[in-house]
Amino acid sequence: MQTQLAQLVATATQEAAAVSTRAEMEAYKARIVGPNGSLTAVMKSMATLSKEERPVVGKLINEAKKAVEEILAALQQKIENSEIGAALGAAVDPTLTSPDAAAGSLHPLTRTRERILTTFRKLGFTVAEGPEIETEWHCFDALNTPPDHPARDMQDTLYMPKSFRSADAPRRGEEALVLRTHTSSVQVRTMLTRKPPFRIVAPGRCFRRDAVDATHSANFHQVEGLWIDKNVTLADLRGVLDFFVKETFGADAEIRLRPSFFPFTEPSFEMDLRSPNLGRLSNRWLEIMGCGLVDPKVLELCEIDSKEYSGLAFGLGLERIAMLIHGIDDIRHFYNNDLRFLRQFA
Ligand code: DAH
Repeated sequence: MQTQLAQLVATATQEAAAVSTRAEMEAYKARIVGPNGSLTAVMKSMATLSKEERPVVGKLINEAKKAVEEILAALQQKIENSEIGAALGAAVDPTLTSPDAAAGSLHPLTRTRERILTTFRKLGFTVAEGPEIETEWHCFDALNTPPDHPARDMQDTLYMPKSFRSADAPRRGEEALVLRTHTSSVQVRTMLTRKPPFRIVAPGRCFRRDAVDATHSANFHQVEGLWIDKNVTLADLRGVLDFFVKETFGADAEIRLRPSFFPFTEPSFEMDLRSPNLGRLSNRWLEIMGCGLVDPKVLELCEIDSKEYSGLAFGLGLERIAMLIHGIDDIRHFYNNDLRFLRQFA
């Protein structure tokens, strides 16, 4: 019986080498351990043995069984591997990088924001931030925009529910909280917390109850600028903005300051840009930001001595600048997350 079992294991080992499919493996398994298998037959013959022989033969059978199980496990593994290989296609090199692992890229608005901030850093500006949910006072009153001013109209401003509390902008008494309509509120916060002189740029998200179209979004971004020092003049304003425009749109870009009105600046201007490199918008005056000298009343409201200090301020729309840089004709492209659009900025 011992030789018979050794023979059985030897044959099983030999035959296993020729098994290459799952069906072949099943047939092979049946030939050995199936109801009519060779090993099964040996096990059945145990019944004919004497009491003394049984433990000896039983041990041998167990060894043979163990050897067969190992062969079957190895076969199972070999066949699974070849099935996976076949499912993946012929040559699989698992060390290659996955074709799905394309790196993400910065959003065009992020890139434009960074570019703008870099330009102003060259002029000694640092970056400041403020809360998106803002008190009415920081958003309007402190900027010389009284309660009856049209900018505060429910048409434009999104108000938070009366019950809403914000840790970043605790409201006083019955004062309302709003979603900030501009980043000029960061001017107020900076003046209240820092001692002049300082120069800051404040990028951020703004909100208005605007109907959405190709050039308007209810949620958009601005970059605000503020420079407070002794004797800051219109010449400084012009110099700063001219530098910004030339860095952003090229050396042949020009600026023009057109008289305008904002409650927080006196005098106030709209700044126009003209450049020969703007595609179909080349060589036309394009309005790109509001600016001016900080109204002394605002300085006083923000606890800065207006007899000692003066300041310049400006506020630009990030989307507008990004659209001009890249020749984008619809603001909604920025928010749709269409990869065909976004990939162009990778
Ligand atoms: N806050 C203005 C707006 O949202 C933009 C602006 C105009 C900002 C003049 C300024 C400024 O700092 O001086 O339309």
